[in-house]
Amino acid sequence: ESQCPHILIVLGASGDLARKKIYPTIWWLFRDRLLPGNTKFYGYSRSATTIPEIRARCEEYMKVKPKEAELYEQFWKLNKYVSGTYDSRSDFEKLNQEMNANANGRMANRIFYLALPPSVFEIVTVNLKQTCMAEKGWTRVIIEKPFGKDLESSQKLSDHLASLFTEQQVYRIDHYLGKEMVQNLMTLRFGNRVFAPTWNRDNIASIQISFKEPFGTQGRGGYFDEFGIIRDIMQNHLLQILTLVAMEKPASVLPDDIRNEKVKVLRSIKPLELEDVVLGQYVANPDGEGEAQLGYLDDKTVPDGSVTPTYALGVLRIKNERWDGVPFILKCGKALNERKAEVRIQFKDVSGDIFEGKPKRNELVIKVQPGEALYVKLMVKTPGMAFDMEETELDLTYSNRYSNIKLPDAYERLILDVFCGSQMHFVRSDELSEAWRIFTPLLHRIERERIRPIPYVYGSRGPKEADELVAKNNFAYSGSYKWKPMDSS
Ligand code: BG6
Repeated sequence: ESQCPHILIVLGASGDLARKKIYPTIWWLFRDRLLPGNTKFYGYSRSATTIPEIRARCEEYMKVKPKEAELYEQFWKLNKYVSGTYDSRSDFEKLNQEMNANANGRMANRIFYLALPPSVFEIVTVNLKQTCMAEKGWTRVIIEKPFGKDLESSQKLSDHLASLFTEQQVYRIDHYLGKEMVQNLMTLRFGNRVFAPTWNRDNIASIQISFKEPFGTQGRGGYFDEFGIIRDIMQNHLLQILTLVAMEKPASVLPDDIRNEKVKVLRSIKPLELEDVVLGQYVANPDGEGEAQLGYLDDKTVPDGSVTPTYALGVLRIKNERWDGVPFILKCGKALNERKAEVRIQFKDVSGDIFEGKPKRNELVIKVQPGEALYVKLMVKTPGMAFDMEETELDLTYSNRYSNIKLPDAYERLILDVFCGSQMHFVRSDELSEAWRIFTPLLHRIERERIRPIPYVYGSRGPKEADELVAKNNFAYSGSYKWKPMDSS
């Protein structure tokens, strides 16, 4: 208790994000004793609800083990709830008074987590600034996408935030930056002499960054339809991965040195054009089960005749000395055949080949999920008497090599980073605006011309046109190799 008090305030405490992600995450951080000793939690929303009700609604996501029962009680004892509207200054004054009275709030550092719809974003931040800032300690604000819908609306939001808070106070979450293998990219690239000399246009043919999900909108179609897969996944998660794969070595590992390099590489990318894109929308699979029998347009919350893509493949090009001519293929889709997120770096063919065209290209694959792994596809002499050759791999499967290590959830790392004041894994406003610059012309064109996405069947690999575009962009797919994760027994 002698430690400086902290308060984490969840705005939108009765909503979905709070229930599925935020409360579970802060419970796990509390359970693992990672939070500062004297931390209290406040929930705020319009609902006339209570902590026991919130607790009941979160229950299925909290993963409480029997031996943690007592700790779990302690956790909820540290929680309070205040109900209020989002536009009333006096309601936020009430929240402030409660915190001052009950949580030693005048002395406390405060973290506001805005788990709110974009429509109330501006008014809530104004109210926070006017009534709820920490008096002695620091105040930090966590925000989640959508950060606007295009360059203009995002800029407006950034300007608004900048008028209230400093950049150091704002933590924009892209939860992919909290994933183990995404954080690993910098270490792999800059901590290994073996990779550095080949990490360029002289050796690399193409780079693919992909995200696949085996389920559709699951009733979330109302939200999704307004945004589409490009805004939901490509503009943020995949582009963030791209920057970490492509950026130059930062001057140091300080957050702003890293973010400066990320901005710099983004600035070398021209806006994505329709000719370099394949769009898809899933349709029902009549032979499928459950959700698979529903196409995107069958989701009741999706407007009739919507042309919102649920699948997109786009090829970006980086015009700089390192990457000129190397396609960066970003691919993402819902209702596909598997769950997978990975980075695939495909090297060029060997030069001066003496093996009659038998060598297949090397690939370095960084598997983000499920099952973190890193493997290099390479050629070996066929083991045994023959002098033939075959494809194999150097494999680092994490569950096998690090069997006793528990990898934290992305949100756990990121929320802890906010307590620690580390912005390394958060998106700076200039990065965000570069990201929107790359996608906005395309997004506007798709909407203006109502570009029809290509239908693909729920549970399939997506439109075949995507494979064709990939083949045209220096990616050779032989289909002769299938990686098997190493057995951890
Ligand atoms: C979110 C998207 O940002 O990421 C969702 O809005 C998507 O549509 C989710 O399902 C995927 O996250 P993860 O961590 O499960 O890969």
